[in-house]
Amino acid sequence: MAVRPLRLVDGLVLGIESSCDETSVALLDGMNVRANVVSSQADLHLKWGGVVPEAAARKHAEAFLPTLQTALEQAGAELTDVDAIAVTHRPGLVGALSVGVSAAKSLSFSLGKPMIGVDHLEGHIVSPALVADLEYPHVCLLVSGGHTELIEVRAPGEYQRLGGTIDDAAGEAFDKSARALGLGYPGGPAIQNAAARGNSAKYKLPRGLSGDTFNFSFSGLKTAMLYLVRDEGAALNVADASASFEETITSVLAERTERACLSVGARMATLVGGVAANARLRQKLNDIADRRGTRFVAPPLSLCTDNAVMIALAGSRRLANGEHNSFDLDVLPNSDLLREE
Ligand code: KG4
Ligand code: ZN
Repeated sequence: MAVRPLRLVDGLVLGIESSCDETSVALLDGMNVRANVVSSQADLHLKWGGVVPEAAARKHAEAFLPTLQTALEQAGAELTDVDAIAVTHRPGLVGALSVGVSAAKSLSFSLGKPMIGVDHLEGHIVSPALVADLEYPHVCLLVSGGHTELIEVRAPGEYQRLGGTIDDAAGEAFDKSARALGLGYPGGPAIQNAAARGNSAKYKLPRGLSGDTFNFSFSGLKTAMLYLVRDEGAALNVADASASFEETITSVLAERTERACLSVGARMATLVGGVAANARLRQKLNDIADRRGTRFVAPPLSLCTDNAVMIALAGSRRLANGEHNSFDLDVLPNSDLLREE
């Protein structure tokens, strides 16, 4: 097991993230976060109960320059101090991604500085490096509104997919179950709050796939929540239902992560993505690490949800590796970062 620092470029890297419902701009100097500004559209999408792609793209176009301006002020920097630009170009909503990528191209063109397209998943995967030395191999549990991936990180930039969801993402299961319970969007924090007052043993819910798989299935759990709401009616205890749901999904996620670590011989696990904000999940992974004498690292909440610092960091590593993109950089809805065995 070896601790290996990420090799990064010298100078100030401007990170841009616009793949979903957060417009974010960051300035990163080596490992030093000079600015991280996130403008969330959550309120806009609240009334629809989910992200509306067209509305998201329009909002990114509106928010980008003010967000950039705030980031420069936070860093006490001028635009001309920027040495390189890193931008999320996949996976995500193509209209939303196009706003960030077009802005990155314009900045790269006018400043005469290199630009690199970053896979959003790689941003999440490298983000723990901002708070801890990473050991290889380690297992990364990436859980967000759009993704649920269990990844073996063999070396910086070398990602092996061990498993993932075969239907709903973990965050999606939180969001849809919260909606069924009448708790609103985004569902993760709402369920966590309601669960704090609940009895997690009250309702028995399905755990999805069984056996020694590294895959997940959450659609049965989501459907069970819908039936629970329908069948219990006014008798439903929302706090108990939230706690039961949270306990079920976090124990499945933690159990698979522990088994993945054992299977690849990893002595370190990381937790990233929006669902990493979940305190119960963090506690479970912490407990496992304590019991096994291994390490567990999750970035602070501001770096778990979508942000441009992680994009700047992933881009900086690639630039230091001699990579960059030309102005024909495309936007794509899917990722091709993870290798399958
Ligand atoms: O990474 P993220 O900000 O955006 C995506 O790339 O999807 O993740 C957002 C997801 C949402 O589904 C939200 O409900 C979930 O993260 N989330 C949580 C918590 N906070 C946010 N899920 C469980 N517990 C939380 N405390
Ligand atoms: Zn994300």
